[in-house]
Amino acid sequence: MDFLSFDILSITYLVASVTFILGLKMLGHPDTARKGNLIAAAGMGIAIFSTIFLYNEGGVYLSNRLWIFGGLFAGILVGTYAARVVQMTQMPEMVSVFNGMGGACAALIATVEATRHADEPRLKMLAIVAGLIIGTISFSGSIIAWGKLSGKIRDRSFKGQQVISLSLLATIIGIGAYMILGNAPAGTIYLEIALCFVYGVLFVLPIGGADMPVVISLLNSFTGIAAACGGFLYDNKAMLTGGILVGSAGTILTILMCKAMNRSLLNVLIGSFSAKQSGNEEGPEGGHVKEMTLTDAAMMMSYAKKVMIVPGYGLAVAQAQHTCHDLEKVLEEKGVEVKYAIHPVAGRMPGHMNVLLAEADVPYPKLLEMDDANAEFSSTDVVVVLGANDVVNPAAKTNPSSPIYGMPILDVEKAKTIIVNKRTMQTGYAGIQNELFYNPKTSMLFGDAKAVLQQLIAEVKAN
Ligand code: TAP
Repeated sequence: MDFLSFDILSITYLVASVTFILGLKMLGHPDTARKGNLIAAAGMGIAIFSTIFLYNEGGVYLSNRLWIFGGLFAGILVGTYAARVVQMTQMPEMVSVFNGMGGACAALIATVEATRHADEPRLKMLAIVAGLIIGTISFSGSIIAWGKLSGKIRDRSFKGQQVISLSLLATIIGIGAYMILGNAPAGTIYLEIALCFVYGVLFVLPIGGADMPVVISLLNSFTGIAAACGGFLYDNKAMLTGGILVGSAGTILTILMCKAMNRSLLNVLIGSFSAKQSGNEEGPEGGHVKEMTLTDAAMMMSYAKKVMIVPGYGLAVAQAQHTCHDLEKVLEEKGVEVKYAIHPVAGRMPGHMNVLLAEADVPYPKLLEMDDANAEFSSTDVVVVLGANDVVNPAAKTNPSSPIYGMPILDVEKAKTIIVNKRTMQTGYAGIQNELFYNPKTSMLFGDAKAVLQQLIAEVKAN
């Protein structure tokens, strides 16, 4: 490698690595997230272009730049179009596809390297085989996750599936070891790819559709590890740092999501959360649901000192974030203090509510994290639950047989009055009824969140 270009290349990789770390740190806060994303993307751009123009082996630079730019151009077109048309509620699907592409890239790199250098030293072969296995599983698993999230593929499991999956995994590891030891016939790699592909499908297929965000986060960490294997293989520091960061961030996110749902990863992977099998769909015995009119709800809010809004998945479905912000402004004009209580797993992806409300320009200091919100409910006059269900279900604290027992929730029942907006008495994601709706302090305001909020705004203005 030409000494000068090697040095410049190393420096650009160092710069790229720093931007990845900086970008990831900035993604931790909504105020800086957009900038963080741009900084990390710029770093990735620097790493890509310096590799294309500066990388050389024995003074020979890359000769296939036309192909590379063709691929880059096609990727930019597809990526830009997809990012522009995607709906906020479809974001997990898109993340899943992108993640699958990352896994496929890592697997392709490993395939090329394995066929080119079958007699590589053991350690290098280990990186190649690990990248191949993890990348292929991540690819097929992510595509199934995308299909399930978009409603194209249904949850499916068959008798003995777990035994088959485990045997398959053992076979994959066995063949992998055979490849690393250097005695495998040339076609073994294709058998390994096919088995990994099938394993990825079987791994994700039986998992409950709504558990997909946790699985996607896990697959994301797989992709990161597969990319890090590529970085190790090419001695490419930027690829190695990027892969390690994705791998560790994905793992931390997976753990945090499981913790916020009070479930183990094993429970997510092998047990469905759907309490439709185990939960009680009836309301509490003798329970009575009270409805209220829009006029009464508007009156109650207008004369309150403090209103706490609890957003949930239904708000995202109704795309009512802007209307919600409008109601907040109208109430504040009347001297009402309005805040938002954010549960960490409200919605269907990490930070779903934060992103949704940031899109509507709700000032970030108004968003209270769960513990802070819980400390404020007793001094709140009116809680307005907008399309949230599981995250305000007291069964998590009171009913040991409930599938969500132990999950930390928002203590909305501590407030003086509770208004719940949803369309029907249907259950939420966990498939269980919610005692909160039968609480004497609670009044239901049925209807689509956006339509209800629009009418509430008109009523509050008229008060
Ligand atoms: P859910 O418990 O899913 O409840 C959402 C409620 O919104 C439903 O009961 C639904 O009732 C209502 N709704 C739907 N469309 C609506 C509309 N257009 N207008 C008004 N209401 C509407 O949501 P949540 O409280 O946000 O809890 C999230 C759940 O997802 C938790 O169980 C959590 O563990 C799980 N989960 C979250 C994540 C992440 S990372 N956020 C990941 C995996 C799983 P109607 O049909 O009667 O309207």
